[in-house]
Amino acid sequence: MPPPTISAPGVRPAAFRFRCIGCGDLSDAARPDFRCAQCSNLLEITYPHWKESGPGAQTLKASWRQRRLSQSAIDLSGVWRFRDLLPGLEHDDQAITLREGNTPLYDLPQCARLTGVPRLFAKHQGLNPTGSFKDAGMTVAATFARLAGFRWVACASTGNTSASMAAYAARGGMRSLVLVPEGKISWSKLSQALDYGAVTCQLRTDFDGCLRLLQELVLRAPVYQLNSINPFRLEGQKTLALELLEQLDWQPPDHIIVPGGNLGNSSAIGKALLEMRDLHLISRMPKLSVIQAEGANALVRTWREANGKRLINVQAETRATAIRIGNPASWKKAVNVLEATGGACEQVTEVEIAQAKAEIGAEGIGCEPASAVTLAGLKKLVKQGIVKPEESVVLVLTGSLLKDPDFTMEFHRGDLLKDGDDEAAQAALNKLRRPPIVLDATLEAVMRTLEQAEK
Ligand code: F0G
Repeated sequence: MPPPTISAPGVRPAAFRFRCIGCGDLSDAARPDFRCAQCSNLLEITYPHWKESGPGAQTLKASWRQRRLSQSAIDLSGVWRFRDLLPGLEHDDQAITLREGNTPLYDLPQCARLTGVPRLFAKHQGLNPTGSFKDAGMTVAATFARLAGFRWVACASTGNTSASMAAYAARGGMRSLVLVPEGKISWSKLSQALDYGAVTCQLRTDFDGCLRLLQELVLRAPVYQLNSINPFRLEGQKTLALELLEQLDWQPPDHIIVPGGNLGNSSAIGKALLEMRDLHLISRMPKLSVIQAEGANALVRTWREANGKRLINVQAETRATAIRIGNPASWKKAVNVLEATGGACEQVTEVEIAQAKAEIGAEGIGCEPASAVTLAGLKKLVKQGIVKPEESVVLVLTGSLLKDPDFTMEFHRGDLLKDGDDEAAQAALNKLRRPPIVLDATLEAVMRTLEQAEK
């Protein structure tokens, strides 16, 4: 017998519909590519009954708190704990869960000093079961894939989505097909997909090429598409913001800063903020800012050069391979979020990413390179006066340090970015480098090393 679960009194399981973000068309079913049948724009999930009888804010908050005392699988999930704002399940045991979510919110005292922003926090999504924020979305989307009767799920990925999808497919008794760009994802992420039993294809193209192919595949073969084009993914990823606000006792921070790749996560967090405002869970909107690597800056260019009206895609190149994306699928959703929250869109260099990653690591928490763009971006936003020293800021760290050990090793050995011609930047990086030291196995050698390190 599973332990009893806790439901919010008077709140119905959420009946949902698909809404096109372009023409607003509402439908009960979605095509396999999750695009509008009328205008080909992306779909989002909407809950029409919230308008007449939205769940009460106090009831929801009390119920979410109460569920933390429960031992049932669905309540132990930091995603399904917020299920009143997710597409409804008929039975709680339908959820495929690895106890995702429940990630910590850390303070960052050293980075706070560096940036001059004392109230600086990190929401560490890298501490999810497969080591990235993708798990929050995958638990929901994989669940609905299985409910829809699919045997196969598939995704294109820069690594983390594939690791997460493969794990949830395995847990849910489904097969998974992974399309990744050959040579451009970390071994750590690739090895996860293999371990979880995915059929893993390394395609001779980039992420954008993999995603294009997947979109064609799902129209031809009975495979369920689990990229963040899938709106169920974004519903799960919304819970990052719900959990964050709960951790802050529902006092919104002034700024939330996220890395931008395919732009699903910024879209999901933005949707959560708008829904929280509409449901009176918060009284004020944080500004959501999106940071990209300079070499993969499609949203930055779209925002600056085309006023967010048409996508300017780029040929992406960055060592932060998780966000090596030039043709982001959810760019329109992300533009809507920037407009609705008043957030900024910035880009950072490879040197700035490497430096920020080492600075976060020096706090004892660590993250993967793509996550570090948030701290690098914050430094720029402070300089520009967009973030003020008295304001509070939450950085969303999307992946674990262990996701890309090669980057970290190359950085500390001085092999990463060694051709940089900016001497000041190189000097700043050198200060952070702690290469491993090979010594004779003598007490004297170790003592000498200790003395030198103390200087
Ligand atoms: N950070 C990490 C660690 C990621 O893996 C990704 C995306 C992002 C940030 C960007 O998030 O795409 O929602 O804007 N990784 C995807 C993948 C694309 O396939 O794992 P986004």
